[in-house]
Amino acid sequence: MMSRPASKPRPVKRAHTFEGSTLYPSRKSSLIEDARRDSASSSVDVWGPFGLPSPTENDDVFAEEQPSLSPPVVNGDLPKQMCVSFSSREGIGFGSLARAAKVFEMAKAKLLHVESRTSTIKEDGLEFLVQCDVKGVNTRSLVTSLQKIVDSVVIHRDDLPRRGVWFPRHISDLDKCTHLTTEYEPDLDNDHPGFSDKVYRMRRSEITRIAFQYKYGKNIEGVEYTEEETKTWGYVYRQLQQLFTTHACKEHVAAFRELERAGLYSPDFIPQLEDVSKFLQEKSGFQLRPVAGLLTARDFLASLAFRVFQTTQYIRHASSPMHTPEPDCCHELLGHIPILADPGFAQFSQEIGLASLGVSDDDITKLATLYWFTVEFGLCKEGDQVRAYGAGLLSAPGELMYALSDQPEHRSFQASKVAVQEYQDKNYQPLYFVSESFEDTKQKLRAFASSMKKPFDVRYDPFTRRIVTLDTVENVRDTARYLKGHFSAVTSALERITVR
Ligand SMILES: [Fe+2]
Repeated sequence: MMSRPASKPRPVKRAHTFEGSTLYPSRKSSLIEDARRDSASSSVDVWGPFGLPSPTENDDVFAEEQPSLSPPVVNGDLPKQMCVSFSSREGIGFGSLARAAKVFEMAKAKLLHVESRTSTIKEDGLEFLVQCDVKGVNTRSLVTSLQKIVDSVVIHRDDLPRRGVWFPRHISDLDKCTHLTTEYEPDLDNDHPGFSDKVYRMRRSEITRIAFQYKYGKNIEGVEYTEEETKTWGYVYRQLQQLFTTHACKEHVAAFRELERAGLYSPDFIPQLEDVSKFLQEKSGFQLRPVAGLLTARDFLASLAFRVFQTTQYIRHASSPMHTPEPDCCHELLGHIPILADPGFAQFSQEIGLASLGVSDDDITKLATLYWFTVEFGLCKEGDQVRAYGAGLLSAPGELMYALSDQPEHRSFQASKVAVQEYQDKNYQPLYFVSESFEDTKQKLRAFASSMKKPFDVRYDPFTRRIVTLDTVENVRDTARYLKGHFSAVTSALERITVR
């Protein structure tokens, strides 16, 4: 089984089908010249360090993020990095992205990170976010040049590393966490079973449109699956159904049966995400959100902090029902969903997500690796047996049987060691980690998370659906009051039970 979840963080290369790359073709040379001339002519730039444009040029472009156009007072070191996003009402394609990249190059701003997301000003358009090294760069001229090829340029002051890593504070902020990786995309990866199938690729685009258009608070639009898609689902379903009783952990089996009894799961139809999301919310507070493909680890893990699971809706290629190089609805619905209905596992998943908020890229990699060896490929003890709880195994009959055979190595779960364990995603894992219990794994994860460098701790407030940072006396006091209320109820309940 090769389904690959959020793993090692990497820059996002592409979100979905791009429009043509012929935007403003006649401006190409003049833009490069602009950047070269501006770069050469400037020496001191009091606006530049803060990414501010000339007050006379396109003022409204910065209205949202820049409250004032007065020259800032520069205290201490100048910022060495800048984070800027840009989009166009005409749509942006690879060509215009390349021209924008040329502007950065001519300004001598070294690109550190490039991401794409759906545009907020153009339906089906893209917005690009670029983080760059601007040491010694005239940032004003860079921004001015950029403004000439796009309609909207925004400097993200809060995204600058000197201000800490941005993370979603409210569940609706997950609308911004849609950064996809391109790995294993059927139209880019020639090893993908659907690579040469134009019809399949078009069908994928049709289904992923739902995810691109989805916003927090909306119902998830359903998919009318074809006969061929339902047949593929049914084939995978029946294979796994037989194995679950002997290979899956008891929590997964129990929830799977409950989904069947509720009429939500059957080999005869592919469940709709909205229905499954409602089921999960009642069982463990988790809800689903449609996603168009493989997300970056940071975005994927952040959604877990809000008990939101990002779920694909498309299905693997019919020619390869037992293998998918990336997550599909078989992987999500048969592998992940049942066990997410278990409150203990849901809590464990949320804690990985909370641990990821605001941490460095290195720590995201460690948490993604922990996620890989637990939520995706984890094994656990059940009496004297070992069973699978990882969705990568529970959605892949071949690897499920292999993982529980005596062929691979089984090792006890230790968070600090698992976090740095090398893994590969091209074949079955040579090594699996076995947890004593979800509770034990959760305790070890907590201890590991507390050792990570972070300026603050966080908790999720389920009433406001906000992340509370525990970095002020007031916030810590509020949290203590909240916990005190719960603790009093538990103490009272214990006393009543004991008296009986
Ligand atoms: Fe997964």
